[in-house]
Amino acid sequence: MIKFAGIANPYHVGAYSVERNAAVLQRYRYLHEGLLRAAAGQLPGREDWNLRMCMCKHLYEDAEAADLLRRRIPELRTSSAVLSKEPDPRLTLLMEELVQARTDLEWASAVYEVIKPAMLEAFRFHLDNTQQIVDQPTIRLLRQAAADLEAQLEWAAALLADLRAQAEQEGEEREFCGVLRTMLLAAGGVAGDLPRSADVPRRWRSGTPYAIPGKSRRDPRRMGPTTLVRTGVENPPADPVLNELVIKMRVRQEEMTACDLIAGVLYTQSSMPWSFYYDLARHIWDEARHAMFGQAALEEDGYEWMTRPQYTSDYDINAEKIPAAKYAWLSIGIEEGAMISLGKKKEYEWCRDEAKHPLMTQFQDYDWADEIVHANLGRKWAPDLMGEPLGFVREIAQKELDHFWAEVRKAEQQA
Ligand SMILES: [Fe+2]
Ligand SMILES: [Fe+2]
Repeated sequence: MIKFAGIANPYHVGAYSVERNAAVLQRYRYLHEGLLRAAAGQLPGREDWNLRMCMCKHLYEDAEAADLLRRRIPELRTSSAVLSKEPDPRLTLLMEELVQARTDLEWASAVYEVIKPAMLEAFRFHLDNTQQIVDQPTIRLLRQAAADLEAQLEWAAALLADLRAQAEQEGEEREFCGVLRTMLLAAGGVAGDLPRSADVPRRWRSGTPYAIPGKSRRDPRRMGPTTLVRTGVENPPADPVLNELVIKMRVRQEEMTACDLIAGVLYTQSSMPWSFYYDLARHIWDEARHAMFGQAALEEDGYEWMTRPQYTSDYDINAEKIPAAKYAWLSIGIEEGAMISLGKKKEYEWCRDEAKHPLMTQFQDYDWADEIVHANLGRKWAPDLMGEPLGFVREIAQKELDHFWAEVRKAEQQA
């Protein structure tokens, strides 16, 4: 259509008043943020490598969708004070139960077969039934969110088939999903517009608050054991430059342990401004991509990595520290430290000039760029978390680094 800037169906009366629209978008926002937080709480305990990768990607996409919704809701004659409110105690219960998933299959099936399909359906209904002129700003953001959900669900169908093929017990996820489905229905569905009864669901597992694991996990069926020591590849190349390159590839691949660390900070640190959670979601996804850098380089060059021991020190050694100390350790100690020492720049130049490996050179080029962002995030959030000026946070980070490397050395001596 040439008229109306190509907007279809301009004469149709939409299903949403301003007030109703704000109330529904507030539920979408809450669910995206709840999924982000639950995924962060679950990540250290999840095992399947491919599932972990997608948890990191999808929690970032949840954060992006929530961020857009946060900007849209106050445009609808609604106080931004609602953005820190929980819109429906039954949705709150749903999220408190979701984070209690005990297996990969429970988690994946609850997210990708119960909650996200219901969100996609609600978003599609919203896109089709809102007035197309008045609600263009919502339409733009929901289109993006729906496109992300579609891609997530398509990927998840393949993952779930793989998880089910490995599951010890058929249908182990059924009870968990059944409980969550009942809770979502009791809330009137994602938009809260389905028929609902006055029977409020009872707590199930969430009577005991979820405790984030003290030690991170990796898939015991397909992967090597977790370790606090770097182990490289099985038959290291005799050529010293090639050997160093392969070690670098594995260090990248094992950055999954940084995802676990940040996820733990995100989950356990409550009452921060939204932009903190938004930034950390991106930080987690970046570290997962860095792990993919290593995985892709190793696989491209024919090195087996999955059955090798998996380094989990970032999470495991720091597990007992408070979130502020964990984040200072990573973002100031490690990441800002790598800028001060020019470590990231040197890694890139070494891959380019010594190893002459085009794929790793490209990976390190972008790794360096990402790490500049992360050091900046550290300077932004670590002082805020610690309640101390940056100079003092750097002293704290140095102490935490000393502790960390002492623990790694101890593990190396025992190995
Ligand atoms: Fe990284
Ligand atoms: Fe980083």
